[in-house]
Parts: sequence; structure tokens; C-alpha cells
Amino acid sequence: MALGARDQIAMWEQVLRLCRLRVGEAVVLLVGPDSLPENARAAGDAVLAVGARLARLELGQGAPPKAVASERTAYFGPTALTGNLPAVAAMKSADLVIDLMGIDRGTEQQEILDSGTRILLVKEPPEVLARLVPTEDDRRRVLAAATVLGQAREMHVTSAAGTDLRVRLGQYSVLTEYGLADEPGRWDHWPSGFLATWPNEGSAQGTVVIDSGDIILPFKDYVRSPIRLTVAGGYIRAIDGGFDADFLSEYMASFADPEGYAVSHLGWGLQDRALWTALRLYDKRQTNAMDARSFLGNFMFSTGPNLEGGGSRSTPCHLDIPMRRCSLALDGVPMTIAGRVVPADQQARTAA
Ligand SMILES: [Fe+2]
Repeated sequence: MALGARDQIAMWEQVLRLCRLRVGEAVVLLVGPDSLPENARAAGDAVLAVGARLARLELGQGAPPKAVASERTAYFGPTALTGNLPAVAAMKSADLVIDLMGIDRGTEQQEILDSGTRILLVKEPPEVLARLVPTEDDRRRVLAAATVLGQAREMHVTSAAGTDLRVRLGQYSVLTEYGLADEPGRWDHWPSGFLATWPNEGSAQGTVVIDSGDIILPFKDYVRSPIRLTVAGGYIRAIDGGFDADFLSEYMASFADPEGYAVSHLGWGLQDRALWTALRLYDKRQTNAMDARSFLGNFMFSTGPNLEGGGSRSTPCHLDIPMRRCSLALDGVPMTIAGRVVPADQQARTAA
């Protein structure tokens, strides 16, 4: 359902206030060739309504991505910002960057965050943003889960479909996404509602069965036939199954990059307002699939880079794979059982 301009500005203002944007702070609104014009308009108007100072930074087309069909939902690699020193400098001197383009993670983005600038990435259309306006309760749940994840030393994921994956933890940082860039140096993505970390180098071991109904990004599609991944020493060593396995195998091979087979961030979804079904209801170009990444109780398996977590692995071959009905335990303590979130402090507060 289309959202009127006034409602869009109001929701942006709400989110910017939750990001603790204050009167007189400097905001850079980063706009790229694929940014949605209505988001750019509403965000800019909301910045001014809060009383902050606005600079709109519009970048042109960057180097041609290695991704096919300009698909950037799970793409890591050079952007129009890469090597653009004045643009990076402008963002380092801002208090908040509203990123409607998509900065390459782990490179310029880290440099900007290290300067204390907070960054909020926004790519979904207004109606998705409106359904998933972040709340204080979203933040509370994700941070409660992050406390447990940050102390864990082993993650064990199982499913009735055949997943049995173990990884050691502690080498890399914990990524929290609750939709608000509310602390200096914090990056977040509106909408979201999940957390993740990266396995210790070489520690991922076992089997991952991507089952019918699980989602592979950037394909933005639901798997129809199970895909069996054999994982050893931190890398996927075999991909077996029917058509879906064949397609995945061919896609990954097209990058000709062994690092694309590494196991990347692993975590679970905590956003009760995100919908597993949403992806099928939008045209592929309309959505960035944040519903899929965030829906409550998913196990998100991923492959490829770990730069963002503090590692040194860089590869443009990156897959986010939100899976249903998995059981995820940290040091033997269940976080999810068959896709249901277990700890009480990770549950949404129901209205009194
Ligand atoms: Fe990812």
C-alpha cells in the first residue's frame, strides 16, 4: 500500500529521533544511482524537521560490480565511494550518514565509523520501512541476545532436515542489527532485527541442509529442493542435491574464488514483525529482502567475506541464507528450537 509523503516524513523523523539525532548535528544523506527518490525526499525533510543540518551527497555509477544483474543485496565490493576521498572526508566529519546507496562494508565504511560517525543504511521501499519501524523493544531483544553470543565459545545448529553444524566462536566481533544507528561509530540497517558473529578461522565443521522454503540471497528466491552442504575446516567442500544445489554450485563457481566457499556470519532473527512470506509478494527490484534476514527464529547461514567481523577475508561472492525450523544452541544453551526463539529476554514484549 502506498504511503503518503507526510506519513513517510513522520516515520523518518521517528527513526532519526530514535537514532538520537539532535538539533544542529550534521547529517550526510548519501544517494546513489539506485536510491529510491521518495526515501531521499522523506529522509531529507525529516532531517530538517529535527533541526539537524543536511548535506546531500549524490554519487554516480561506480565501477561495474562483479555481481550479475546489478544485484547488490548481498554484494561486497567496490562502489562509487571507493577512492572518492572528498566524499569519504565529508562523511567522516558528519555526525550521522543516512546511506541510501550501500557503502562497501569493512573498507570505507569502517574508516567512516572509526571517526565516530554513525551510519544508517536504508534501501527498502517506504511500505516495508513503515511496517518495520524500529522500536526500543527491538533493541532490547537484540542486545540481550548479543550478550549471550559475545560470551559463547561454540555454536551448534541442527534441524530435522539434516543440518548438524558446529563452529567455535570468540575470534570475531558480534554484529547487532536492530535498525538504529544510535551510538557514535555504530552502523545499522533499517529495517532489521537480528544478530550474528563469524566462526573462528577454520572451525566450521559438519553439514548444512538448506531445506525447501529456505531463502538464498542474492537470488531472492525460495529453495524448492534440499541442498546439502558439506563443511570442513571452515569451508564448504561439497554441494549436493537437485536443481537448487546445481544452481547454487554453478553460481558460486562463477566467481572463481575459493574464498567464496568460506563460512561467514552466523546468527538468528528476532524481528517478530518481519515476514518469511514477504519476499514472494514483491518484485525482486522492489525489495532488499530484509524481511527474510530478520524474521523471528530464522537461522542465517552465510558464506564468503569476514572483513566486517574483523577478519581479512574479502570476496565478492557472498550469500545470506535465512533458514527455517533450525535449532541453534550456544555452549549447549538453546537460543532457538525448530525456529522458535527460546530465551525469555529475547521475546517481544506484548502490549499490557
Ligand atoms: Fe551477509
